[in-house]
Amino acid sequence: MSFPTNFRWGVSATAYQIEGAVDADGKGPSIWDTFAHEPGRIADGSTGDVACDHYHRYPRDIELMTGLGVDSYHLSIAWSRVQPAGSGPVNPAGLGYYDRLVDALLEAGVDPVATLYHWDLPQPLQDGGGWLKRDTAARFGEYAGIVGAALGDRVKLWVTLNEPFVHMAYGYAFGVHAPGQALLFDALPAGHHQLLGHGLAVAALRATTGSPVTIANHYSPVRVLGGTEADREAGAWYDALHNRMFTDPLLGRGYPEGFQMPVCDGDLEVIAAPLDALAVNYYAPTGVRAPQDPDAPLPFDLVPLDGYPVTDFDWPVVPEALTELLLRLHREYGLPLYVTENGCSYPSTKDDPERVEFLSRHIDAVRAALSGGADVRGYFVWTLTDNFEWAEGFSKRFGLVHVDFDTQQRTPKASYHWYRDLIARSR
Ligand code: BGC
Repeated sequence: MSFPTNFRWGVSATAYQIEGAVDADGKGPSIWDTFAHEPGRIADGSTGDVACDHYHRYPRDIELMTGLGVDSYHLSIAWSRVQPAGSGPVNPAGLGYYDRLVDALLEAGVDPVATLYHWDLPQPLQDGGGWLKRDTAARFGEYAGIVGAALGDRVKLWVTLNEPFVHMAYGYAFGVHAPGQALLFDALPAGHHQLLGHGLAVAALRATTGSPVTIANHYSPVRVLGGTEADREAGAWYDALHNRMFTDPLLGRGYPEGFQMPVCDGDLEVIAAPLDALAVNYYAPTGVRAPQDPDAPLPFDLVPLDGYPVTDFDWPVVPEALTELLLRLHREYGLPLYVTENGCSYPSTKDDPERVEFLSRHIDAVRAALSGGADVRGYFVWTLTDNFEWAEGFSKRFGLVHVDFDTQQRTPKASYHWYRDLIARSR
């Protein structure tokens, strides 16, 4: 089966991972600026201060996109460039940067797809409690209206939030990402307030743009290890936390049973504002079993999945789980789907046969989901250039293009050429 005619082929990237220029032109600090500078937080001691210097080198990166033949580029907007304090005055220079970027993309024949929030909360909002506080949702709604009014005539697809589950879990429950809080279950309000912010942002975008609106969730199909009832319960519990908690409420189904969220009257209606699609970020499934230690703080154990090749992150390579996931989302929620992130880290430089193999098998998995009836509208590789991989710094490379971080030299890898040919053949 071939891909539909207007299927989007793209690449994804995010502000903090590539832009650098962290205090240029009036940008305010974000929680990632703070966190990356705290000793011991980042594996290789690096920060995103310069990253790929995309802020200054975006014309070169757009050339790489046109060379690849992608029709879409999924970027994220740094809230603290647009509104340095996260509320109050707009920074025209920061907004001006995205204005120029969007125009340059359109001029190059690449459709801008924009995420409003990829984990980089303005630091002043964190000082007031961050996503643990309800007020942050209201501020996010205002910011969405500002960006929608400025770019809503040119951005072709809007994504409100990136992976609220990962932000809540890594940032607020386990403390391995900014803002570095390890609250376990007390992190749950950060989930609800992100979803409330999403709902307010949808309303603000509807008022300022005619382009479709979605939210990007991180999904990980669960593989239950162990055959006991307790193992199955642990699997269902983890599935509810990781896969359903940030999707069921979008479709008006409320939160899965057993999760205590600080819901006020009317919140669930705001969160269930109609969406045009679901955006799916997929990397790997998760192995789950019942906790082996009776005093364990969590009702599940996460266990490595044996029997698969693994990436440099030790994530198992399981393309068929992507087919399964897309079919499940289609069946359970019925919305059009975009795969907004899929990719792998490998240490290789120019020659990266493992990445070619990974992408080829995952694109086949998308094709299989289309054959099975899922309405998949696009596929975006994570990511165009090697970049700042959060807590791993520059030690993990996901790019189709190698970056020498000393010289900023970009060198396309074999996978870049392979993806270019695949796109050309698929049109
Ligand atoms: C995130 C990206 C990240 C990638 C690889 C995704 O969950 O959205 O920002 O680089 O995973 O870890």
